[in-house]
Amino acid sequence: MQKILIAAAVAAAGGFATGAGEIYRDASQPVERRVEDLLGRMTLDEKIGQLYQSIAEPDWRPMEGQFDAVRKGEIGSFINLYREKGVDRVDWRGTVSRRCHDTLQKIAVEQSRLGIPLIFGHDVIHGCYTIFPSPLTLACAFEPDLFETAQHFAAREARWAGYDWTFAPMCDTARDPRWGRVMETCGEDPYLNALCVAAQVRGFQGADASAADRIPACMKHFVGYSDSMGGRDYNITECSEWTLRNLHLIPFRAAAAAGVETVMSSFNTVDGRPAVTSRHTLTDILRGEWGFSGFVVSDWNAVHEAIEWGYAKDGAEAARMALRAGNDMEMFSRHYPDNLKGEIAAGRMEIGVLDEAVRRILRVKFRTGLFERPYAIELPGDEALKAFDACAHEAAKNCAAKSIVLVKNNGVLPLKAKKIALIGPLGDDRREMIGAWDARSEACRTTLFDELKAAFADGEVIMAKGCAVNTVASVQTKEDGGKAESAATSTAGIDKESVDRALALAEVVVLALGEDRNWTGENHSRSRLTLTGAQQDLFDYVADSGKPIVAIVCSGRPLALPSVWERADAVFYAGQPGCEGAAALAALISGKLSPEGRLSMSVPRDVGHLPVFYNSYRTGRPGSGRYDDAFEQDAKYPFGYGLTYTTFAFSPTRIDGRTAKCEVTNTGAREGVAVAQLYVGAAACPDGVRPRRELRGLRKLSLRPGQTAQVAFELDDAVLAYTDRSGALKTACGRYEAVIAPDSASGSGASFVRE
Ligand code: BGC
Repeated sequence: MQKILIAAAVAAAGGFATGAGEIYRDASQPVERRVEDLLGRMTLDEKIGQLYQSIAEPDWRPMEGQFDAVRKGEIGSFINLYREKGVDRVDWRGTVSRRCHDTLQKIAVEQSRLGIPLIFGHDVIHGCYTIFPSPLTLACAFEPDLFETAQHFAAREARWAGYDWTFAPMCDTARDPRWGRVMETCGEDPYLNALCVAAQVRGFQGADASAADRIPACMKHFVGYSDSMGGRDYNITECSEWTLRNLHLIPFRAAAAAGVETVMSSFNTVDGRPAVTSRHTLTDILRGEWGFSGFVVSDWNAVHEAIEWGYAKDGAEAARMALRAGNDMEMFSRHYPDNLKGEIAAGRMEIGVLDEAVRRILRVKFRTGLFERPYAIELPGDEALKAFDACAHEAAKNCAAKSIVLVKNNGVLPLKAKKIALIGPLGDDRREMIGAWDARSEACRTTLFDELKAAFADGEVIMAKGCAVNTVASVQTKEDGGKAESAATSTAGIDKESVDRALALAEVVVLALGEDRNWTGENHSRSRLTLTGAQQDLFDYVADSGKPIVAIVCSGRPLALPSVWERADAVFYAGQPGCEGAAALAALISGKLSPEGRLSMSVPRDVGHLPVFYNSYRTGRPGSGRYDDAFEQDAKYPFGYGLTYTTFAFSPTRIDGRTAKCEVTNTGAREGVAVAQLYVGAAACPDGVRPRRELRGLRKLSLRPGQTAQVAFELDDAVLAYTDRSGALKTACGRYEAVIAPDSASGSGASFVRE
């Protein structure tokens, strides 16, 4: 009933010219009837138009030039809708992008023959205006529901900015920190990743993605992208069906089960084919096995890249291969619009395949309410917006505080000292903590300097930047012969005078360091996991002063910083904590809040040790195969690791029937949060080798000093399951080990047999 009223209201407002018998315009009709009715009315050109996503940045192609194409129904979607010449991308709640959205939408809805609305997509990855911690960072909270909260805020802000669709969550599983995109993932463990991405789908879409405060999500990049060889972005992926099934597909399956509306195919190869042309993954698995009914969009230019890979011989072949594989919409490149009509006329492409792709896109457009509400969501009034803004920032702070991981503390934290030298390029910076994806964000409103001064109002905080976050703007180019890289690691650039002044006054140093955020994210692979610019020299210089150091490391990836781990008295791994990261850090440093984050990705000792993910496999020669030139071979800080301001004792794990149990006691003097992690490993699996340990359960426990909690995990089939090469979920009969531990490297397992 509600939908009929909305449709009537839209029509009355000039939205649709409703015609007799036009079932597709009638919101009370079932979606599938509307789809078939509309499909039956479409010309071939209009169908092909639905499969094409164009870009709306005037810097790339004049938008006016596209008005006519929209009018003719030759474009189904737009990406990156936010720029008008001369207008800064930062605008208050989407004034500019809303205007762009509605201008184009009005042409589509009111001036095109069938009035099919466009769908406008954008990368709203970890916040739109209010930037939450990056996914890799927020995963460290070991509290997947936080993703639901964060993405609900993001969904509301995205709607206000004029976006109908977000290209998130990223479901790739990150195992190589050289790959710059690990910051967008939820880390190295498929189980935690699956919980986090499903929560993101719930946060974006809610129970009904057509609601005014929700937005359809897009799980990406399907699939295997994170295994890019050598951590080099866009590289080939070599991954067996076994690893695909038991690692990469697991988070995707969870997002699909959570009802994600769309999927993005990836840049990499899958079994020797560009993923955008992989029928095995896009059709057999996604649709056949999982029953996914939404649509697949290619990644940026990926249909064209099938030619660059040396796979398709030309645009027509690339278009045929991708469409037949199950890739419905083409992002940016133009091989669908430029070739499909001719291919169909020549009998080289099946109209039924094309119709099916159109059907899937229309289905999502109907299902997500675009026909009933094609225009951008109106902003609430000033007061409501202010209240929303305060809530969003409070939530972002809460998320950051729960995500920041304390990896070392020799007792200096929480800080009692009153005279603090805040040194380092991130101390008084407004953008670095935002991270690599900033959607429509403004800079952070406060810096760590502001927040520390407020937190230690009865003391003194002296700031010295010391050096820049990087000594070059971006990665080295071939043209400069790699000079940029050597400059980036040179010893130049420490302002010793100001550092000395700060040191002279300080009882303790808070050293705010990190990795240039522009060296993280897409197309930012690194061969070294170091601090950028002259920051290592800055650290060494400060450490030589002998003053106690609390180091804060903000980075998009785990860094290998042996001297920091060794010489600092305390270290926070803060990841990319978002726009409230500074406030969260100040609260943790002062002890107003207690740290509770646990690492979502293992921290290597050295780049040469990679990979160091915890869920590694047994080998035929346990204990052998070590590096001769390294004494310690394991991760410096393993997955799941993190300290608090108290201590916890975990009793040995017991197996009681089908349940694993243990007791966790707070043995320290302060209330704190323990994270009980259930790891399981099968002794033998006839279908293929399994990791030694896999996370299969987690519980966060808030305990007072002396308090003990009983923890129990059911060892049911879901906990023991793996996926065989045909996609069937199975459990291996025989002996298993289970351990409930504070991190992935601790505790010894209790064994049990499952017949
Ligand atoms: C990235 C995607 C992103 C798309 C659109 C691509 O280069 O790989 O993650 O969604 O661009 O911006």
